Amino acid sequence: MTTPSSTPSEVSAESPGLPDAAALTRLANEMFAEHMGHSAASVVAPWDATGEDLPVVPTLADVTSIAPSVVPLESIPNSLDEGAEVAPLLMGSDPSGLTALVPTNVFDGVPPIRTSVPSTPFYFLDEATGVLPPSEVPVPPPGPGLPRPDFYFVRPDQPWDGPAPELGPERSVPFDVEAVRRDFPILAERVNGRPLVWFDNAATTQKPQAVIDRLAHFYEHENSNIHRGAHELAARATDAYEGARDAVARFLGAPSSDDMVFVRGTTEAINLVAQSWGRANVGPGDEIVISHLEHHANIVPWQQLAAEQGARLRVIPVDGSGQILLDEYRSLLSDRTRLVAVTHVSNALGTVVPVHRIVEQAHAAGARVLIDGAQSVPHLPVDVQALDPDFYVFSGHKIFGPTGIGALYGKQDVLESMPPWEGGGNMIQDVTFERTIYQRPPTRFEAGTGNIADAVGLGAALDYLQRIGIENVARYERALLDYATPALQTVPGLRLIGTAPDKVSVLSFVLDGYQPEEVGQALNRDGIAVRAGHHCAQPILRRMGHEATVRASLSLYNTCEEVDVLVAALHRLAADAGHTRR
Ligand code: ALA
Repeated sequence: MTTPSSTPSEVSAESPGLPDAAALTRLANEMFAEHMGHSAASVVAPWDATGEDLPVVPTLADVTSIAPSVVPLESIPNSLDEGAEVAPLLMGSDPSGLTALVPTNVFDGVPPIRTSVPSTPFYFLDEATGVLPPSEVPVPPPGPGLPRPDFYFVRPDQPWDGPAPELGPERSVPFDVEAVRRDFPILAERVNGRPLVWFDNAATTQKPQAVIDRLAHFYEHENSNIHRGAHELAARATDAYEGARDAVARFLGAPSSDDMVFVRGTTEAINLVAQSWGRANVGPGDEIVISHLEHHANIVPWQQLAAEQGARLRVIPVDGSGQILLDEYRSLLSDRTRLVAVTHVSNALGTVVPVHRIVEQAHAAGARVLIDGAQSVPHLPVDVQALDPDFYVFSGHKIFGPTGIGALYGKQDVLESMPPWEGGGNMIQDVTFERTIYQRPPTRFEAGTGNIADAVGLGAALDYLQRIGIENVARYERALLDYATPALQTVPGLRLIGTAPDKVSVLSFVLDGYQPEEVGQALNRDGIAVRAGHHCAQPILRRMGHEATVRASLSLYNTCEEVDVLVAALHRLAADAGHTRR
């Protein structure tokens, strides 16, 4: 290969010693053409109507061999990804006249070269980019020295790949948290040079390998539309999708898979009920009862329905710990109450609501009940036949499944009585221009092509969780909460928000001297992921006297050691703010 040369007139005025952009373009095209065995004049893309040189896409070898001699890499700002290697892509008659930058991983399928976890400017606003090699990662100070729960056992000889264990009240199987962690590949990630501590489980959970593999298997071997098509893959995809519906029904203890409607998530499930059941059953003067703990997804759809129908929203108050006041609830119920819609677990505080009593009393008053299970199903056993709500809804991504998929359970007679809420393909039996005959539930509520692969992924997530045993998870997480609560309370200036006796492993708090967002960013620098903000639950945070909190939400793969890392980081922050030790 010959080395192209530049003439003095081609030297850039802005960067003395470097060729200008036009010369760079010409030189690069000469070089690529040389490398590919063409003369520069012959490199004309077929779409180039003018005959001018158009972009020639170089190979990785081309770019890495010429880049250093053309433009020093370190002089190139890379707004795409700080962690990826970059090289200039030299364009022919690029209309912008600019040299484009692309990460090398777009070339030739060569994976990006990453020696560390990049922090991109898209994610965080501060300078959290200091990546330390493992040997320089500071060891966090020792934890608070509180006793750790001793009833979970490391039993590597007994992994859970058998059937879901039958558990009586006093029986348990070993819970090996290290084995569980190995099932979640992302937990080996490092963030800012530290091991990732994922404490943002109430926002979304991480996915086990079983779910990742199931999704890949679907796309590799089963992908097709469902309920139609006379071919093998349509049959496989339909079986996989309907098999996932069976898994959801089993998981919730529903009497039939026909009682389970696939939706995008909890928000869509509630909107479906509001618009279908609500419009048909709520009229002027009627009342809908919700609680002060609700996520916006269980407030706004009912507000909209009430405004449309001339109905009224009533709100069950809570006490200072964040538990709802059952006496007040009873006094809100009347013959005007059409629906009670409450959360099973508060996403912002972690409070477990006594939903059995909510359901019983609502039914005694002649009202229907919807339970928002988004934050309960990953933590607590749920049996819809024992609990007896009319609707129970949850999201897949909060229970180790994919995003964009969730489920609505409805009692069969209630679903049968409901009109469709969206029209289209799949939900019909027969269509003429005069009329449409709808399918029975659940298909009546699944218009169009649904999220087939992710439904299958959700089924795999629920099967995974059932193999571990949700009772084991509940027991383990209770121990984590009992460890973390007093540990956090050792941090000077920290106040826990939400202290109800019955809680799941969610710890909301504020720290004197800091905005919650500042705490979130500081923890991120230590690799700890929490949510800071209003958690889509502004009414309950305001009731507790705050606009925002920091929320650490723990899951089955979290450990006491991770709690120690969090507590140590908070102690450092408290010390920086000048708080004295408790
Ligand atoms: N509902 C989710 C949360 O609580 C997004 O963070």
